[in-house]
Amino acid sequence: MLAVVGLALSVSVFATWTILLDRMNDRVGAELVNEAEKLRQYAGSPAASAAAPEDLLKNYLQVNVPDRNETFFVIVDGRVRWRSFADPPARLDEDDALVARMAAATAPVQDWAESAAGTVRWAAVPVLSEGRTAGTLAIVVFHDRERRAVVDAVGVLGLTALAALALAGGVGWFVAGRVLAPVRMVRLTAERISDSSDLSRRLTVTGDDDVSALAETFNHMLDRLERAFAVQREFLDDAGHELRTPITVVRGHLELMGDDPADRAETLALVTDELDRMNRIVDDLLTLAKSEQPGFLALGEVELADLTVSVVAKARALGERRWRVDEVAEERVLADRQRLTQALMQLVANAVRHTGPDDLVAVGSAVRDGAVELWVRDSGPGVPPADRERIFERFVRGAGRTGSHDGAGLGLAIVRSIAEAHGGTVRAGDADGGGARFSIVFPCEEAP
Ligand SMILES: Nc1ncnc2c1ncn2[C@@H]1O[C@H](COP(=O)(O)OP(=O)(O)O)[C@@H](O)[C@H]1O
Ligand SMILES: [Mg+2]
Repeated sequence: MLAVVGLALSVSVFATWTILLDRMNDRVGAELVNEAEKLRQYAGSPAASAAAPEDLLKNYLQVNVPDRNETFFVIVDGRVRWRSFADPPARLDEDDALVARMAAATAPVQDWAESAAGTVRWAAVPVLSEGRTAGTLAIVVFHDRERRAVVDAVGVLGLTALAALALAGGVGWFVAGRVLAPVRMVRLTAERISDSSDLSRRLTVTGDDDVSALAETFNHMLDRLERAFAVQREFLDDAGHELRTPITVVRGHLELMGDDPADRAETLALVTDELDRMNRIVDDLLTLAKSEQPGFLALGEVELADLTVSVVAKARALGERRWRVDEVAEERVLADRQRLTQALMQLVANAVRHTGPDDLVAVGSAVRDGAVELWVRDSGPGVPPADRERIFERFVRGAGRTGSHDGAGLGLAIVRSIAEAHGGTVRAGDADGGGARFSIVFPCEEAP
């Protein structure tokens, strides 16, 4: 930025310099012509017309005072007779060669010459009388002196520009420093947080400008990161703990295995069972991990009636129950059919596990108030009110069936993540006449 301004300033100083020099040259040229013109006018004036040509020139010198850096003299018969009153920077009238050239002029001439005071520009104006040169007016302008004045002026201009630039730069630097100080503070704190990887630290927010808004956003981000890390760590702890149990069981069985073929077969069955369970846990964990990521759902058109009926049809294979379809919605909605089937099958499997052959298990769907409800109810023991929230957490099993190795407590967590992926919720409640009723509710988006 400063460089650009500096460049612009240099260019303008340089331009001024060239323009001034140009002007000066023009002015000097014009001055020479002007002096000759003045002489001509003077010669035509009544005061002068009576005088002899020589006296005319002498008088002219007296009435016409040279400008600064200018000098006049009059040559008569090849010799300098008079010169203007003020002392010039250099005595050109003592330069014999130049004087001879001037004297030889029969018409006005202009040229350059060198002098002790540098380059000069001169003009010689002969005054003719009766066909011969009665005298010559020599006009000398000290070009280098004039030039030096221009150089000085441009020098002053350049210095002023430089000083202004330096001042502007300094002030700009200072102001930018003051403005950016809070940003730097935010950056340093952010760096310190990432260095110490202590996500519980926060930036201090003061004021309500953009920078504090930035700090606040940053703090919110840290909040989310901290929560995400905590959840992840918990997840890993739970998963590790849960997988260690089957591994211990498998190892125990294998260590105790004898040589007896019947014993071996039994151990093999137990181990296979346990490995299957592990496999299911890993699958469920993967599903849960995926549910945190985009692309978990593959949305499409789902016919709720068809979904409901087909879940019941599949569920019949799980066991002898009094299966029933409570109610079906006729709507088609935008949802992920496979994930919804997966969620309902988890609920149905739970219902089967908590009921006996004579019990009722019913599945239903309905659309009410712009929301889809899918439910599974049974006539089992139901979920105690105290457990209705926590059973949806990972690895949480209800008090009822401890000791059974079947579930890892991931089923309802998966149901919840599927419901939430659809922008909805899942709830456990009482079914009419006792038993549990689980319902998934999510906003109804009509399929196009
Ligand atoms: N239909 C039901 N009736 C009674 N309790 C249930 C029912 N479904 C789930 N639960 C309770 O919720 C707990 C969590 O279920 P879930 O997450 O599927 O884990 P898991 O089936 O592995 O035990 C179960 O252990 C059980 O106590
Ligand atoms: Mg389950």
